[in-house]
Amino acid sequence: MAPRRGLFITLEGGEGVGKSTQQGLLLKRLRQEGIKALGSREPGSTPLGVELRAVLMDLGGEVPCQEAELLLYLADRAQHVRQVLLPALETGAVMVCDRFADSSEVYQGRVRGLGWRRVRDLNHWVCGGLWPDLTLVLDLDPDLGLRRVHQRQGDLGLAPDRLESEGLAFHQAVRQGFLEQAAAEPGRVKVVPAARPPERVAQDIWALVEPLVAAWREGRG
Ligand code: TMP
Repeated sequence: MAPRRGLFITLEGGEGVGKSTQQGLLLKRLRQEGIKALGSREPGSTPLGVELRAVLMDLGGEVPCQEAELLLYLADRAQHVRQVLLPALETGAVMVCDRFADSSEVYQGRVRGLGWRRVRDLNHWVCGGLWPDLTLVLDLDPDLGLRRVHQRQGDLGLAPDRLESEGLAFHQAVRQGFLEQAAAEPGRVKVVPAARPPERVAQDIWALVEPLVAAWREGRG
């Protein structure tokens, strides 16, 4: 893999936990520090990814087999890493990504049952050696998260997408899956309680990001 000078932070969690709000607040905070900070998301941060996202989110009632679903997310990631993330990191930017490899390990690996270790192996191949420096799991009771999603979709006049429409048990398993990811890799994956006002959650996130940014800046001289 080409040398990279930037920092790579990912935001993870179930539906309606506030990832995109926190991504916006973190990018703003980093930019206030004079840091070049950029955001992206999965799926859907490249032209190919936009097409894949549309397919994944609405299959017109067709249920994909688990393997096909996983491979579509991985195709999106392979393109995202090479077209967006690595080039940006090579310029020395801090990338803040809304979902990444942990989402596949939780949704497809742990919840759909393909096995997170198998998905981890595929992730390593797909990511070409790129791995997050820090992963923030926003943790929220799925009952609350889904209510937020349905409210937001209703306000926009949209129906919930394929995954948002899964039952509560699915979303409880997703929450549990992310907590297990954090327990398995406590150095990289940090859990942030998300059932509080966004500014409070953002403070907790900054307390985790600030030391990493400080060490990174020091390392760059
Ligand atoms: P979101 O970006 O709006 O949260 O929606 C993306 C959906 O796709 C969400 O339900 C989680 C799901 N997903 C996976 O199942 N596996 C993955 O690898 C990724 C990136 C997302």
